[in-house]
Amino acid sequence: METMTRRQFVVGSAAAVGGLIGMGVVQPGVALADDIQWIESDCRKEGKKYLVAYESNCGSTSGVAQTIADVMCRQGASVDVRHIKNVSDVSTYAGVVMGSAVKSASWYPGAIRFVKDHQDHLRQIPVVYFLACLALYKDTQENRELAQSYFNPVLKAAPEVKPKAVEAFAGALDYSKLNMVVRMIMKSKMEKQGVPEGDFRDFQKIESWAQNTVLPVLC
Ligand SMILES: Cc1cc2nc3c(=O)[nH]c(=O)nc-3n(C[C@H](O)[C@H](O)[C@H](O)COP(=O)(O)O)c2cc1C
Repeated sequence: METMTRRQFVVGSAAAVGGLIGMGVVQPGVALADDIQWIESDCRKEGKKYLVAYESNCGSTSGVAQTIADVMCRQGASVDVRHIKNVSDVSTYAGVVMGSAVKSASWYPGAIRFVKDHQDHLRQIPVVYFLACLALYKDTQENRELAQSYFNPVLKAAPEVKPKAVEAFAGALDYSKLNMVVRMIMKSKMEKQGVPEGDFRDFQKIESWAQNTVLPVLC
C-alpha cells in the first residue's frame, strides 16, 4: 500500500474559502495539514480488474475505500485503490466503486466531475457509490435520509450512470487537518449540532457492505 502526502498531492491548491453554503462551508482547499495520507494500493489476481476510486479532503475517506478493497481482494478480486486525481482511464476496469467525502451536502465537485468525465464507460459496467459524512454521526432515520440525499447531485449530473447500490457511512472530523477559517466555521457549526471531533467510521459496517453488497453486484 502506498500513500501520498497532501503536499505531494496538491498542486497549487489555494486554501480558498469560497462561501457559506449548505452546512455553512466552503470551496475546495479546506484542508491544512501536510501529513494527510491518501491511500493507494494494488491487489493483483488473475481475471477482471476493479477500481475503488475516491475523493477526499482530509484523508479519512481513503480508509473507507481501502477497507472495501481489502474485502474484495480477500475474496479473490484484483483491485486498484486510487485517488481520482490519479485515474485517467477507467476503460480497463470491469467494475468501479466510487466514493467521496461530503462537503455542503454533496459529494465533492471533483468526484461528480470524475463520474461525468468517465460516464461513457461507467454506464456500461457495474458501479456502486459510497460517501462519508458527519450527518451519520447519529444514525437516525432522519439522518440516513439526509445522507442519502447527498447522492442527488451526482445522480443528477450523470443520470445514465446507474449505480447498482449506494451507501452512506459516518466519516471523521479532525480539526487539526482544517485550515483556520474552516476550522472556526466547522467548530461553531458542529458544536451547535452536537457533533464532537473524532473518527466515526464503522469499519465493521463498511466491511459488511463490501462483502454483502459490493461483491455480489460488482464481481
Ligand atoms: C468543509 C466541510 C464541509 C462539510 N460538509 C458536510 C455536509 O454538508 N454534510 C455532512 O454530513 N458532512 C459534512 N462534512 C463532513 C465530512 O464529509 C466528513 O468529515 C468526512 O468524513 C471527511 O472526509 P475526508 O477526511 O476524507 O475529507 C464537511 C466537512 C468539511 C471539512
